[in-house]
Amino acid sequence: MGKTMAVTSGKGGVGKSCIAVNLAVALARMGRSTLLVDADFGLGNSALLLGCGVENSIEHVLRGECRAAEVAVEGPEGLVLLPASANGQNAGWELGPGAEDIRADLSLFEAQFEYVIVDTGAGLVPKTIDAAVAVQRMVLVATPEPTAIADAYATMKALLAERSDTAVHLLVNMAESQSEAEELQEKFAELAVRFLGAQIDNRGYIPFDRYVREAAKRQVPFSQINPPPPAAEAIENLALWFDRNESEIRAVGFFDSVLGWEDADWKTQMKVRS
Ligand SMILES: Nc1ncnc2c1ncn2[C@@H]1O[C@H](COP(=O)(O)OP(=O)(O)O)[C@@H](O)[C@H]1O
Ligand SMILES: [Mg+2]
Repeated sequence: MGKTMAVTSGKGGVGKSCIAVNLAVALARMGRSTLLVDADFGLGNSALLLGCGVENSIEHVLRGECRAAEVAVEGPEGLVLLPASANGQNAGWELGPGAEDIRADLSLFEAQFEYVIVDTGAGLVPKTIDAAVAVQRMVLVATPEPTAIADAYATMKALLAERSDTAVHLLVNMAESQSEAEELQEKFAELAVRFLGAQIDNRGYIPFDRYVREAAKRQVPFSQINPPPPAAEAIENLALWFDRNESEIRAVGFFDSVLGWEDADWKTQMKVRS
């Protein structure tokens, strides 16, 4: 079973997609087989950021209209993307007819990869929370703005209410300086311990970097720019850290978990059938 990670946040526009995409590129460049799952249904932009042309989307797979392998596209450094549609339709994780086959297809597909990185939509809505708690590690992205701490706190509270054994990594994005990032980290850590009794891992920061926007315009991941701009160096270090620091391996993958395969009723049903 691969290592699973979701990139999430309370607010939109904090850089989740940029981080998820470039983290996936960095891991793939390190030789790790990497699957990037765009779970921002209806607003998917991972394909655009990677410069991948796509036809179908993960929503087609969930509805039972396509197999995962038909929808997946190869991106930079050999990473594989399951794109989300950008048609504005707000789908969830509910499965279409043939739910068991759909689950099995996604589960087997995912099992080929060493890493599964999930780019989630924003906000405290069920489909985002479901995705974020279905992984081993959550990367909680916050920017140094007055409202960011409250947003990140509310998100973490909601996530921990669903599942308390997920490792939470706070990642500050678009910081103007190290001290600005540290200020946010300290305040957040204090809140988390005092009100949630939760330890949070500070995963450092990604500096504000104009190359991030430039790269998005050119549809090239910024982590492929040579020489690497500051944001790319930060992502590289993040990828190295995750690769070196094993988390406890769960027996279930991302899709198993988010689609309810690890649900006890489900397993019982499967046993009864077989
Ligand atoms: N470190 C950064 N420096 C500068 N701009 C950034 C940085 N990270 C993200 N951005 C910009 O912020 C905007 C939102 O990023 P995006 O990844 O789409 O956010 P989200 O997925 O959280 O909605 C984009 O225009 C992106 O180019
Ligand atoms: Mg996004």
